Amino acid sequence: MSTGPAAPNAIVVRPGTMVVLVGSSGCGKSTFAARHFAPSQVLSSDQMRALVADDPDDQTATEAAFELLHTALALRLARRRTTVVDATNVEGWARGRLLAVARRVGRPALAIVLALPLETCLSRNAARADARPAAAIRRQHRWMADSLLTLPDEGFERVCVLGTEEVVAAVEVVSAPHASKYPEGTAARPGGARPPTRYRNA
Ligand code: CTP
Ligand code: MG
Repeated sequence: MSTGPAAPNAIVVRPGTMVVLVGSSGCGKSTFAARHFAPSQVLSSDQMRALVADDPDDQTATEAAFELLHTALALRLARRRTTVVDATNVEGWARGRLLAVARRVGRPALAIVLALPLETCLSRNAARADARPAAAIRRQHRWMADSLLTLPDEGFERVCVLGTEEVVAAVEVVSAPHASKYPEGTAARPGGARPPTRYRNA
């Protein structure tokens, strides 16, 4: 994550933010997370499944994996460590559980939606050694599109929608400089995205 001045295509992340990636399998969430964040900042559902079951694809470990993910998320956010949640997060209830964690420890939440065309996700998925069923990609992609309607009112401070490969490639993630300029209390809250107009000196 760069700390330089924000370019027009920059996503500014304040320290201690929960960054929720949203998108179907194959849309490039893990690639995006690896490009813009340090490995220790990223909590992925696959990584948590591997931790509890020695297998990132063991779906029977999903519940335990998310319990672990939520615990690690809370512990990191409480220490004001920016934390990325790398899971599909295409269902409102899944995002609601994450927002509840951020709210409990008083930290802001940012959603980054990788809203790439279905065809891109399907072809990237098909090229993977561990390809998911195409039907699962289609379903998740539909839920991602539905999520675009509800996300602005779920409690994220900001929702960034990246709609094309070009936009995803051009985006920069910038750590907010002068974090002390930003007021406390702009944490995730139930309902309504809060515009960044409450910044004092930004
Ligand atoms: N990929 C690509 N070009 C990109 C981003 C991703 O070719 N700009 C490829 C990756 O190399 C990978 C596949 O697309 O083979 C899926 O990318 P990945 O980041 O793993 O997607 P995720 O959204 O993380 O998929 P999952 O939910 O299944 O973990
Ligand atoms: Mg991934």
